[in-house]
Amino acid sequence: MVYVTRPIFTEAIELLRQVAEVRVGQGDTPPPYDEVRQQARDTDAVLSLLTERIDAPLLEQCPGLKIVANMAVGVDNINVAAATRLGILVGNTPDVLTETTADLAFALLLAAARRIVEGDRFVRDGKWKTWSPMEFLGTDVWGATLGIVGLGRIGQAVARRGRGFAMQVLYHSRTRKLDVEEALGIRFEPTLTSLLRQSDFVSLHVSLTQETRHLIGRAQLAAMKPTAVLVNTARGPVIDQDALVEALRTEQIAAAGLDVTEPEPIPASHALLQLPNVVVTPHIASASQATRRQMAVIAATNIVEALQGRLPPHCLNPEAFGRRR
Ligand code: NAP
Ligand code: GLV
Repeated sequence: MVYVTRPIFTEAIELLRQVAEVRVGQGDTPPPYDEVRQQARDTDAVLSLLTERIDAPLLEQCPGLKIVANMAVGVDNINVAAATRLGILVGNTPDVLTETTADLAFALLLAAARRIVEGDRFVRDGKWKTWSPMEFLGTDVWGATLGIVGLGRIGQAVARRGRGFAMQVLYHSRTRKLDVEEALGIRFEPTLTSLLRQSDFVSLHVSLTQETRHLIGRAQLAAMKPTAVLVNTARGPVIDQDALVEALRTEQIAAAGLDVTEPEPIPASHALLQLPNVVVTPHIASASQATRRQMAVIAATNIVEALQGRLPPHCLNPEAFGRRR
């Protein structure tokens, strides 16, 4: 039995049906934790979304569970260490969403820099009276300095877009990547602070871990230029959101473009959404038709392979394979 927590593309469900019975959760909001726990108990595989918390107590009560396949690249919703201990494989969907996500990061960067959403609201509200020499002045993107935090797959794809806009690109990451520096013409900054001090735009691409939670807090925002724009398509908790609200309100930084928040969804009454210099999208960076379809198929393929006794193509804990159930 495979449990799919919410409806996804039918191609993926059909793939799963070729190897197992499939139970698909209905409903267009995430099932409550207790429901997921209940549904997962007697299954061989769970196809989860990033909205589902798959923690140790849940995994421990599933004696037959062989794999949890997340339909996402990020797996901060899953306790991977507990899964590994229990011999349960964890799959994700990298690569296929890299360019799509980088597109949205750059769209947010452009929108925040050039005040596109503010301008759109202004026009719709009937406030546009004339061409004005001093209105809606934003920040130039071309030729500016872009700081990438976390030079993984998506970080590199955003760096390439930056180079296409004639930007000087700096990066800070856990490990220096000389080959990428040379290929893309980008520069390593040994500390996060030195990157923040120099960048006109800062784009976050780290995975969410204990080390990256609140990586951008009060001190880091204070290190940024007052003209800087912060973009986050990684995970909401990478930023201390209260500190961000304060920094935007006091114009310590100029603007932010966020695809991820804490919590999600962010309430419409939240202080962040009262600020004009913020553009927020509802966690849609990978949301193109083609990419979401491929993500669903990859997640299903990870399950098909695991149920047939093979190592899934995108497995985050291959060490669990030797101890699989
Ligand atoms: P990835 O290739 O694994 O890149 C993550 C990068 O984070 C790694 O390169 C790693 O650096 C860096 N990193 C981790 N901890 C760090 C730390 N403490 N300090 C500095 N750098 C650190 O993953 P990806 O495919 O690019 O995806 C990145 C993240 O984007 C995902 O985990 C997910 O949370 C998010 N995402 C969001 C959306 C969306 O819809 N908004 C879509 C896709 C992905 P090193 O390589 O130097 O070790
Ligand atoms: C989306 O946020 C993902 O991690 O794929």
